Amino acid sequence: MGKIKVAIAGVGNCTQALVTGIQYYREHPEDTRGLMHPDMGGYKVTDIEIVAAFDINADKVGKDLAEAIYVFPNRAYKYPGVEMKPTGVIVQKGPVFDGNPPFLNEYYTLSDAPDCDVAKVLKESGAEMLLNFIPTESHQAARHYADCAIKEAKIGFVNGMPTLIVCDPEYQKIAEENGVPIIGDDVKSQFGGTIIHRALANTMNERGIHMENTYQLNFAGNTDFKNLLNRGASKHKTKQEAVTSLMPYPVEMSTGFTYVELMKDRKTSIFYINGSNFGNAPLHLEAKLEVEDSANFAGVIVDMTRLAKIALDRKTGGVLSSACSFLTKHPPVQIPDDQAAAAVDAFVRGELER
Ligand SMILES: NC(=O)c1ccc[n+]([C@@H]2O[C@H](COP(=O)([O-])OP(=O)(O)OC[C@H]3O[C@@H](n4cnc5c(N)ncnc54)[C@H](O)[C@@H]3O)[C@@H](O)[C@H]2O)c1
Repeated sequence: MGKIKVAIAGVGNCTQALVTGIQYYREHPEDTRGLMHPDMGGYKVTDIEIVAAFDINADKVGKDLAEAIYVFPNRAYKYPGVEMKPTGVIVQKGPVFDGNPPFLNEYYTLSDAPDCDVAKVLKESGAEMLLNFIPTESHQAARHYADCAIKEAKIGFVNGMPTLIVCDPEYQKIAEENGVPIIGDDVKSQFGGTIIHRALANTMNERGIHMENTYQLNFAGNTDFKNLLNRGASKHKTKQEAVTSLMPYPVEMSTGFTYVELMKDRKTSIFYINGSNFGNAPLHLEAKLEVEDSANFAGVIVDMTRLAKIALDRKTGGVLSSACSFLTKHPPVQIPDDQAAAAVDAFVRGELER
């Protein structure tokens, strides 16, 4: 079926987990544990090839991707036995915009290399899509990468963070005109806070349980959490809407993020729900999840990438609604997860256009 050539903005923990995770499956071709779809329309995870990468950290820029992914403050789970060989992809200096707030700049030095021309690099690299993994709330930088991919290089765009790009009617229109698929916004991790909270809400709805109010508290020791602690407005929004949009009545929901250094990339999510069952008798639910945060993200990106490639093969541009609803926290259209999963399968079989 050929390779899937992708470029990545942001060589952080999520990129480390994605690149080393793909290598894990290359080294263990018989192992399909941890994959939602071992095969997607003929494409395997190992068909994904990184052809360009952008960052702003002085210790990452100018290095081969295989080396840059291990540079501090990256601290994603290390898959046992995985050996990275040089990829030949040198990390380019991306334009900084709002990607370098002071509380993140404590962890690294900003590269003083000149900014590359992102659209030019994308075109020359042969990338078929750009994956956007820069820090939450870097809205200007996110829009710049989206402009370079969707408008200038005319390639697909996968938005892994919560700036509303795919939900923006202007980008939707241009992506459709240019025949390039877009998937976003913000990733709904493989088995993370959002999908579990949604599953709990769905089950309560199905069984007539009334949800009065609920919270979700998340903590980890990676830079994503340092960032969310200081500027997490758009993440609170995508997380809360992912749950409240499923409820047939208004529900009060709070979300919290805390940075706990020694947790590194291991995330804890605590869920609390206050509700009532038959006769309005009180009910309280408390649940806890511990998971490797960036691996949880990468497990979804490998599907998004293959779905975008299938769309490119079929010359389908614009919002890939089935992929957005199944795999993102804030899709243009929220539908229950079982319906979204069925829509993705129908898209892969060619029975659904998007
Ligand atoms: N499970 C998860 O980890 C998860 C789930 C959903 C969404 N996300 C989102 O994915 C994004 C990436 O998460 P992460 O954990 O890899 O973060 P990270 O902080 O580890 O990595 C971000 C990288 O982006 C780089 N960067 C900053 N500004 C840039 C710019 N202008 N151009 C190029 N690079 C720039 C940083 O130097 C860093 O290397 C975040 O927005 C996060 O909220 C993560």
